[in-house]
Amino acid sequence: MFAVSPERLRALITAFHEEMRRGLAGEPGSLKMLPAYVDIPTGKERGPFLALDMGGTNVRILWADLPGNRSVPVLVGDLFQLSRDQISADAGVLFGAIARFIGRFLRTRGLTGPQRMGFTFSFAIRQRSIARGELIGWTKGWTAQGVVGRDVVELLNRALAEEGVAGVRVVSLNNDTTGTLMAGAYLDPDCDVGCILGTGTNICYRERTAAIRKPVGPYDKEFMIINTESGNFNAALPRTRFDALLDAGSENPGLQAEEKMVSGKYLGELVRLVVADVCTEGFLFGGRLPALFAVPGGFGTERLSEIEADVSPNADGTLALLGEAGGGAAPGDARFLREVVRSVSGRAARLAAAVLAAIVSKNDPGLDATHVIAVDGSLFEKYPGFRARMEETFRELYGERAGCLRLAPVSDGSGFGAAVIAAASSSG
Ligand code: BGC
Repeated sequence: MFAVSPERLRALITAFHEEMRRGLAGEPGSLKMLPAYVDIPTGKERGPFLALDMGGTNVRILWADLPGNRSVPVLVGDLFQLSRDQISADAGVLFGAIARFIGRFLRTRGLTGPQRMGFTFSFAIRQRSIARGELIGWTKGWTAQGVVGRDVVELLNRALAEEGVAGVRVVSLNNDTTGTLMAGAYLDPDCDVGCILGTGTNICYRERTAAIRKPVGPYDKEFMIINTESGNFNAALPRTRFDALLDAGSENPGLQAEEKMVSGKYLGELVRLVVADVCTEGFLFGGRLPALFAVPGGFGTERLSEIEADVSPNADGTLALLGEAGGGAAPGDARFLREVVRSVSGRAARLAAAVLAAIVSKNDPGLDATHVIAVDGSLFEKYPGFRARMEETFRELYGERAGCLRLAPVSDGSGFGAAVIAAASSSG
């Protein structure tokens, strides 16, 4: 069920091109194709900036001193984790927590005086300029009330004022993919795609401004970054009944179809649904479902990583893991579970690769140029074999020309990229 043939991937790529065209033309479709009001940096951007990165597993704040010579900046940063309550209450609670976190960072790092800040907000935002944008809709399980349809920069500024955090000026707003592309392109001028493979997934790329046929706000550069919101892609996907089940139980049914097949928030749940189904049929665990698989969301993608790392011929590591979690498992159960894990993650990596290939091949069908794809996110960084399977898929699709698609991990990209954008937009 989870195998995806090269023909299927090619059909997906063709469908993706059509959805891109529609999105750029402002026609109805599954790709929002959101203008980001920024083009890749020159590499000469310099100076100290704050960067706030909000919307993944953790909130991150960075102080970045850009050197202006295409090298990695000096970064000083802190992390903090929002609670489930904070992401599901309302705008005041959410942005209040962020503002207090920023205040604490400035105090502990002794940063006084005016600070310019770039703001990475890892959700779909509708922008009309670089320094403001409204949230189109939450994803990844976030649900805070009173944010959809509002300018998130204004919400942040208000919270900073209410919490008495003075001196911080938000000069730019960007999606995390845009931040990643900007960080990648700051380091390497061949970088023209930014990709997140983490809790959620999404891709942005560099487009000719003239190709954006829907109305665009004031912007005078020849190229502009487009946030495709590829996680919402929903045409020619090889969905199974387990994907439909997962969708029905999610916070945003009917949306983010591709993300639900690819990203870290969902892979564990997909495996859990398959295992529960096969167990109910009586073919696993003697028909008694272990507690590990009993609760929706209870089997996380970290578990998949552990199982994936088990390369023993008989899945002994997986058997041990099942034993630790309680419940009686036989060696056959462990081998089956590992096979399910490999199938679900394999499909995810193949789809992730095909969607990237679709984006690059829209403007370069012959893959004549080198495209460095900046990638950030826990799934790509930490999941055993994910990157290798993506590269294998590129080769399957393009043979030798696949060498033109170069995956480049940019860790902290979405954070330091916000500083690059802040610098690029401050200098006009
Ligand atoms: C959001 C994107 C974001 C991606 C990766 C998705 O759920 O819609 O805006 O880029 O997650 O964080």
